[in-house]
Amino acid sequence: MDTTAPDLGMDLAEAARDPDLAVLAEVLHTTGPVVRAPYPAGGYVWVVTEPGIARKVLSDTRLVKDAALAPPHWTEVFTVLGTRSRPHPGLIAVEGAQHRRLRNVHAPAFTPRRIRALEPRIRAACDERLDRIATMGANPVDVVAEYCYPVPLTVIGELLGIPPTAHADLRQATEDIAYGAEHSVRKAGRALLAHWVERAVESKRDQPGEDFISDLVAVHEADPDLLQAEELTAAVTGLIFAGHETTAGLLASLLMTVVTDPEAREAAKTDAGAAALVEETLRLFPPVPNTTWRFAAEPLTIGGHEVPRGAAVLVSILAVNRCPVNHGAVDGAENGAENGAPSAERDHLSFGYGPHYCIGAGLSRTEARIAVRAFVDRFPDVKLAVDQSELTWDSSLPLRRLRSLPVSLTADHTSGSDHVEDSGRAA
Ligand code: HEM
Repeated sequence: MDTTAPDLGMDLAEAARDPDLAVLAEVLHTTGPVVRAPYPAGGYVWVVTEPGIARKVLSDTRLVKDAALAPPHWTEVFTVLGTRSRPHPGLIAVEGAQHRRLRNVHAPAFTPRRIRALEPRIRAACDERLDRIATMGANPVDVVAEYCYPVPLTVIGELLGIPPTAHADLRQATEDIAYGAEHSVRKAGRALLAHWVERAVESKRDQPGEDFISDLVAVHEADPDLLQAEELTAAVTGLIFAGHETTAGLLASLLMTVVTDPEAREAAKTDAGAAALVEETLRLFPPVPNTTWRFAAEPLTIGGHEVPRGAAVLVSILAVNRCPVNHGAVDGAENGAENGAPSAERDHLSFGYGPHYCIGAGLSRTEARIAVRAFVDRFPDVKLAVDQSELTWDSSLPLRRLRSLPVSLTADHTSGSDHVEDSGRAA
C-alpha cells in the first residue's frame, strides 16, 4: 500500500485568496487527512486537515521548531519573524524548557484580570477611531485601514508602551513582512521593525514606564538567564507583529459579516451576541489559516502516511475548523481553561492547540467583541459600498486578511460616544 501523502497540487497560500474558503476546505477534506502541498521555496509541506490528528500533531514532541532540520534552500524558514541563518528566540520558535521559561515571563501580561483591566482602554481606542471616521466625511470609507488596523495597533501599543508616533512605521513593517511579495521588501520590513524594537527597549531601559516592555527589561536586568537580551527583543517583536496583524484580520472579517448580513449586525448589538459572532467568524475565516511550521525530528507516520525526517508539518486551521464530521469537538478543555472560554467558544482551532496555544487569544477575543459592538452601535445602517465579489483577500501561508472594506455610513453618525454610552454598553 502506498503510504505517501497525496500531492495537493496547489499553492496553499494562493488557494486561500479565494473569498470562498469552503472550496479549499472541501478539497483539503477529500484529499486529506494528510496532504503534501508544494512549498514556494521548493519541496513540500505536509498539511494535516483532520481535527483529531491536528490536536495530536500540535502536542507531539517529535515535531520540533528546529530550523536546522529544514531543507538548506529554505532561507526564509521563519518567514514571519526571522531567517534561517538567524533564528528567532521568540515563543513561537522555541520549545521545551526554553519555551516554558519564556511563556512564564509573558504570562503576567495576559491574565484574564489584566485583560479585563484593559477593556476601558480598548473602548476608548474604538471610540476615538469611530469619531474620526464619523467626522472625516469620506464616502465610502475603507474601514480596514481606518478601524481594523488602528484599533489593535493602539491596544498593543498601549500594552507595550509604544508611542503613537511609531504606529505608521510599525504598520508598514508588519505589512511588508506579512505580505511583501519580494524578498527585499520583507527584509526591509524586518529591518524597520527591528529598528523600532531596539529603540523601544533602549528608551524603557533609560525611562521605565507602566508597560510590558519595561516589565520585560526589568526581568532581564534582574536575571539575564531568565530572559536573555535576544529573547527580550524577540518577545517584543513577536508581540508587536502577532498582537495586531492577526486581530486586524479578525476585525475585518467581522465587519464584512455585519455590513453584509443584517442578522449578524443585529446580533452584534449585545455583548453575548457579539462574542458568539466573534467565535463563528474565527471558525469560518481564521486570520491564521495554517499553523506555523514544525519539523519531523525523526521519520513519523501521521494519519497513515509516512512523513520523512526533516519534513515541515502544518495544520490547516481552515480545514479543521470546517471539518464536516468533527466540527463541534475540535478544541480541548486545556485550551479553554487557559483562556477562560466556555466550551461553546472553543469550537475551532483558530488560536492553535497545545503548548503553543495563542497567548493573546483572550486579548483578541475581548478586542473583537468590543470593537464590533462599538461599530454597529455607532453605524447601525452601514452598508457595503461595492459588490461583495469585488472584495479581495491577501494570504501568505500563516496569515489571511481582507485587503479593504469600503462602506457607506448611511446613518446619522454624528452623535459620537454619546450614542455608545446611551446603549448602556460603556463601562
Ligand atoms: C485573532 C487574533 C489571533 C489569532 C487568530 C492568533 C492565532 C495564533 C495561533 C494559531 C497561534 C499558534 C501557532 C502555532 O501553533 O504554530 C498563535 C500563537 C501566538 N500568538 Fe496569536 N493569534 C491572535 C492574536 C494574538 C495577539 C493579540 C497576540 C499578542 C498580543 C498574539 C501572540 C501570540 C504569541 C506570542 C504566540 C506564540 C505562543 C507560543 O508559542 O507559546 N496572538 N496565535
